[in-house]
Amino acid sequence: MSNSYWQPLNMANGGLGIEITRGEQAHLYDSNGKKYVDGYSGLWNVTLGYNDEDIIEAIVRQVKQLPYVNPITLKTPIVSEVSDILCKITHDNISKIVYTCSGSEAIEAAIKISRKYSAMKGKNRKKIAVMENSYHGSYYGSMSASNYEEAEKEGYGPMLEGFISLPLPFSRKKKGNVLDDKEKQYLLQQLEEILETNKDTLCSIIIEPVLASGGVIPLFPEYIYKISEFCKTNDILFVCDEVATGFWRTGSIFCFKKYNIKPDIITISKGINNGYLPLGAVCICQKIEKLFEQNGKILFHLSTQNANPICIASALATLKKMNSGDIQAKAENLIKEFQDVISENLVNLNFVSEVRQVGLMIAIDLVQSLEGNVPIEEKNLYGIVRKCFDKGCIVGMAYSTNISSAILIFPSYIMSNNDVKEVIKIVKESIMEELHKED
Ligand SMILES: Cc1ncc(COP(=O)(O)O)c(C=O)c1O
Repeated sequence: MSNSYWQPLNMANGGLGIEITRGEQAHLYDSNGKKYVDGYSGLWNVTLGYNDEDIIEAIVRQVKQLPYVNPITLKTPIVSEVSDILCKITHDNISKIVYTCSGSEAIEAAIKISRKYSAMKGKNRKKIAVMENSYHGSYYGSMSASNYEEAEKEGYGPMLEGFISLPLPFSRKKKGNVLDDKEKQYLLQQLEEILETNKDTLCSIIIEPVLASGGVIPLFPEYIYKISEFCKTNDILFVCDEVATGFWRTGSIFCFKKYNIKPDIITISKGINNGYLPLGAVCICQKIEKLFEQNGKILFHLSTQNANPICIASALATLKKMNSGDIQAKAENLIKEFQDVISENLVNLNFVSEVRQVGLMIAIDLVQSLEGNVPIEEKNLYGIVRKCFDKGCIVGMAYSTNISSAILIFPSYIMSNNDVKEVIKIVKESIMEELHKED
């Protein structure tokens, strides 16, 4: 096997050494013909499965017809069509769509737009508030905006300056406990203090409505309302990062819709085109568009492949499918099926401290013992993930000190009920074997 490929987030010679050669629905096949059920839908992006004929056909048609145009000087009819759809399905204040090649790049653009907006308003505020434990990508700007373990950033600095953290509304609990009213009040008060202190220097606040890589941690509604209201009152831009949560992942087309709020900027990627080609987007509200217009300013953000027609064609085919109603029904069925199978097989296990499921984002938090509520070690989480792979099931993990030590399942929406049972069976067996516990 060749050894020259360096996989992301791996040691130079790391990785599991698995070569995948074929995909079918929610399954992958490696070079030895071994079949895997994919409980992670690629990297949460292949929401409609690996061989969606409609999307594949749209891509092939577009490659033949027109594979590229210079995005600065030219555009295609399909980019206008997709932009109109995105404006329509986000909210009525969204008036412009900027395309990127990834979620990280969408966040970079959102950071730049936030600062430019403030500069054009004559305020020149530079600070951006982000959630503790959030993940927004790994480019310089998006890495600076992210709040993963400091060790991960070590030596790559200097990072982009000006980010402050908002307290994570979560505490590691014993089984079944959630934040009570008193804890929520305390968190809201802490949030308010930080916001008030930084009011005159903040240009935007970026949130993931459900922390994804952070371990499926939803922000409670009052927390989101407070941020939204604060932004509105102080002309600070409210940026909702829907890269992970968008396109029905949480059971709603976008997660922000559940809260009846209207973010000024929405960043999207992953499910936008079933993950078949690199594509992200920044959805921008009218007041930002108008300010650029009034000031006679261009938006200085470009990558040669922004709005590539093939990527856009894959998005158009995906969005048409997503809006058909059929996908929503399938996702709803799957959400319920996972709930049922998990509650039958996992929630009562002694070493499962909590299962957090938001739509089709699932974290199974694991402890060494419930009594001490001590999270399992990172090496054991790796061990469980490895065992799942060995047994033919792909899952992920989220480990952050004192917050989460969880197995992650983010399935595609087209998985069968049998696949759900298979995933949970394998996860359960792997947990038991790794932790040497009895049922
Ligand atoms: C919430 C969120 N924002 C941004 C990103 C970065 O997206 P990408 O990996 O496409 O650069 C991710 C990736 O997982 C994400 O989950």
